[in-house]
Amino acid sequence: MIEIKKVNKYFNRHKRNEIHVINNVSLKLEDSGLVALLGPSGSGKTTLLNAIGGLDKVKSGKIYINNKKITSKLTNKVDKIRNLNIGYIFQDYKLIDNMTVYQNVALVLKMIGIKDKNEIKKRVNYILEKLGIYRFRNRPTSALSGGERQRVGIARAIVKSPDIIIADEPTRKFR
Ligand SMILES: Nc1ncnc2c1ncn2[C@@H]1O[C@H](COP(=O)(O)OP(=O)(O)O)[C@@H](O)[C@H]1O
Ligand SMILES: [Mg+2]
Repeated sequence: MIEIKKVNKYFNRHKRNEIHVINNVSLKLEDSGLVALLGPSGSGKTTLLNAIGGLDKVKSGKIYINNKKITSKLTNKVDKIRNLNIGYIFQDYKLIDNMTVYQNVALVLKMIGIKDKNEIKKRVNYILEKLGIYRFRNRPTSALSGGERQRVGIARAIVKSPDIIIADEPTRKFR
């Protein structure tokens, strides 16, 4: 469940180029399903998704992810809520390019506290196979095409079977 309560966010606050980018937004997404956020370029979609994922701060209001407040001031708390509940597919993938495909995806499972190497191997290889990138598993992600890189980004988001997947422009450049 995602609950957004009266959230406000500005860029360049108190300057001449101030933008009130999230303007008193409230929204409750209770059940499972696909929700698409539509709006012209620059309307604040990425900003709102980053706030929901706890990647960016807001000026006021609260956001709850499965009843846990991700707009907390405590960064370790925010990181924990995100790690345990959200898979994030970034617009520009944000892969770790000096690591292999396998290592990029395995890191997610290590971050949620899975230590068993065999368990990690089983889950990562399963996802890589499903997404058709198993054969690249030992390549650094810098040596992949755009579409292949995007699939690593998707693998990373879904490998931990999160309750919530946030995808920013997920169909861009998929080839
Ligand atoms: N870090 C930032 N500093 C200042 N302005 C920003 C920043 N990030 C985004 N903006 C501005 O906020 C508005 C919303 O941006 P964004 O959320 O990226 O829109 P969208 O994803 O809908 O295209 C735009 O006008 C953009 O220029
Ligand atoms: Mg955007």
